[in-house]
Amino acid sequence: MQYGYFDDKNREYVITRPDTPLPWINYLGCQAYFGIISNTAGGYSFYRDARLRRITRYRYNNVPFDLGGRYIYVRDNETGDYWSPSWQPTRSDLEQYTCRHGMGYSIIGAKRRGILASTRYFVPLDENLEIWQFTVSNERQTPAALSVFSAIEFCLWDAQDDATNFQRNFSIGEVEIEDGVIYHKTEYRERRDHFAWFACSAELAGFDTQRDVFLGSTRGWDRPAAVERGESANSVAHGWAPIGSHHVRMVLQPGETRQILFVLGYHENPKDAKFDPPDSQIVNKKTAKPVITRYLIPANVDAAFQKLRTYWNGLLGICQVMTPDIHTDRMVNVWNAYQCMATFNMSRSASFYESGIGRGLGFRDSNQDLLGFVHMVPERARERILDLAATQLPSGGAYHQYQPLTKKGNNDVGGNFNDDPHWLIVGVAAYLKETGDWSILDEPVQYDNQPGSEQPLYEHLQRSFRYTLERLGPHGLPLIGRADWNDCLNLNCFSDTPGQSFQTTTNKEGKVAESVFIGGLFVLAAKELAGIARHSGHADEAPGYLAEGARMEETVRRHGWDGEWFLRAYDDFGNKVGSKECAEGKIFIEPQGFCILAGIGLDDGLARRALESVRKYLATPHGIVLQQPAYSRYYLHLGEISSYPPGYKENAGIFCHNNPWVIIAEAMTGNGDGAHDYYSRINPSAREGISDVHRCEPYVYAQMIAGRDAPTHGEAKNSWLTGTAAWNYYAIVQWILGIRPAYDGLQIAPSIPERWAGFRAVRRFRGVTYNITVRREGPGNGVKLTVDGQPVAGDVVVPPADGRGEVAVEAVLH
Ligand code: BGC
Ligand code: NOJ
Repeated sequence: MQYGYFDDKNREYVITRPDTPLPWINYLGCQAYFGIISNTAGGYSFYRDARLRRITRYRYNNVPFDLGGRYIYVRDNETGDYWSPSWQPTRSDLEQYTCRHGMGYSIIGAKRRGILASTRYFVPLDENLEIWQFTVSNERQTPAALSVFSAIEFCLWDAQDDATNFQRNFSIGEVEIEDGVIYHKTEYRERRDHFAWFACSAELAGFDTQRDVFLGSTRGWDRPAAVERGESANSVAHGWAPIGSHHVRMVLQPGETRQILFVLGYHENPKDAKFDPPDSQIVNKKTAKPVITRYLIPANVDAAFQKLRTYWNGLLGICQVMTPDIHTDRMVNVWNAYQCMATFNMSRSASFYESGIGRGLGFRDSNQDLLGFVHMVPERARERILDLAATQLPSGGAYHQYQPLTKKGNNDVGGNFNDDPHWLIVGVAAYLKETGDWSILDEPVQYDNQPGSEQPLYEHLQRSFRYTLERLGPHGLPLIGRADWNDCLNLNCFSDTPGQSFQTTTNKEGKVAESVFIGGLFVLAAKELAGIARHSGHADEAPGYLAEGARMEETVRRHGWDGEWFLRAYDDFGNKVGSKECAEGKIFIEPQGFCILAGIGLDDGLARRALESVRKYLATPHGIVLQQPAYSRYYLHLGEISSYPPGYKENAGIFCHNNPWVIIAEAMTGNGDGAHDYYSRINPSAREGISDVHRCEPYVYAQMIAGRDAPTHGEAKNSWLTGTAAWNYYAIVQWILGIRPAYDGLQIAPSIPERWAGFRAVRRFRGVTYNITVRREGPGNGVKLTVDGQPVAGDVVVPPADGRGEVAVEAVLH
């Protein structure tokens, strides 16, 4: 069953009914001002940091699920009938409801009794504001007297405080209203130099800024008293809950269409020019007003929207593919790339499943996310890498997360995840392969944001590498620390206190529990670091890295191979985890995928054996589960993984993030059919037809799909902010389609299904456009390359020496 369809031409997903199983959402903004918007206009906005600079309020985990949003009410002033064209919050019966989620915008609207109303929501480039472009048409035979009300609820900046210390907030809310613009200036009197504003392009019949007055003290957003009455109260908020609501009256002739612009913005003033007059407490609006005026003019708004479209077309145009599979094309060309940008912007901090309060940008997560977006915004990837590295600790270890506003490591979130440092190497390698910008390695970068501690980025990578060498366990494998990639495999935690956080509670200073996964990651990091060294004037160091990598590979073979698959770990007692000897949790996905990705077992058959075991024990029609058998009870020595009921999350859920590791491994071993088959099982577009089972958006990946042990097998959860986005993008583009940036050029090494006759692709890489045609002449994946008609040896296309901007590449598979 479906709730909409893909409009591939417009790069939109069109939702045709408001009652999707979960809110189906989109992100607005891609630089500093952001918003989350659901298909019924729910969601919230913030400037840079979802916790510290929250602009509008959202009620998580609510009933109905999605409440708090960018709401508009339309009222028929003859009958008193009123409704929301986005369905929420009035939930009235609507005709022709549609929500079009596009690249950085959403258009939501509907018809009711001959009145067609819809709103295009977007954040213009380079501005800290969002526009609601509201259009209303009268399709009746008679004139329509209408009222239109806008409504947002301000969150008092710190979303954590707003949820916990609201007794203070009830007294500090302040607004100003000037020329119909509502200025939200809570705490501006003291240490804040920023305020928010909410403006409207039409002449106002009234406004409200006090929530209780607008709604009525006993009502909700579904039945605001002001809307029911057809009249605002011109309330001025003092404390309590400041809102912004404009009221516009109009009479529309039959066939007439009218547009109203509502614009919500964030503005900062210089510290010494906050007030106007200077000795008053009145917000200085001098620099804000020109911005407000500009975006209340429809032509400017249309131009800003076109600019946004051009921007996205440009980003997506960097890699476009035409394959025999529509689901592949759709995800690669539009949605998967788009999701990669969302994870770049948000990491795991602000979604409908993460409040944006508890988490900043993850060290591990953001480094991995680079794999999916570095080709689209390389300069911003550079900045992200340097920000991340600046939070690295002198030990080479890392804060698990940092706050985007302060760019400082967040002490509350825990640390000692012993895989963390290596993702920096993986991320930097991806950046270098894409850009060839070796200068980044010489950038001076602080440790722990301490002035004076600057060292070249290259040294940070070295410390990342050494971090593991200084933390080896009894078998010579890396100590796991608090956890590795799998946050929930907590082998040093031993938590028996209800409610205690596995992620942050004090752990044993474990000297025994080891991770085979980090072993594989280390082998990969060693190869990457050696590659970096060889290309950057540190060639003499490369053999050392490779030797350490080889030693670890040997250790993994000796102590990390279980006979049919790679072992997962050793616990604090030195017992095996993820072994045939275990009663539960005999085989895990992570080491199978990652050890092979690191190249272990490719030559001697171990890789294929591990992959056969994955197929036999872990693969389901909905994707590959994390481990089997699921843990049926809580194990003190394993931690959070066994806290989940079987089939959910890390306890044998289909953790979509690591399915691509197996996909890549399949591709590496030459099994293009197997790789694409696994790819398709979790491809959201390919699952669109079972949206009633899958439940999450069919246009983006979710973190998890319930595994075979779960009663709801096939049900997805936690969509959008997941490493799944980057890894799937990387798996399909770089390993199945085989278009792979390398230090010396663009490698073309596809591993596609045998039934595919080939595919085409356009890839812009280091300033050159590569028009790639892959043609199958035999069943294998051996490649014969010609570049502009000339045969070349190997599978790497080196950038043209003569400065040509375009190159035709033909790859024949035999
Ligand atoms: C989740 C993990 C997550 C961890 C850290 C756990 O509850 O299951 O997926 O990584 O929390 O926040
Ligand atoms: C979500 C976290 O953001 C990510 O860092 C982790 O690897 C996975 N959960 C698996 O536990």
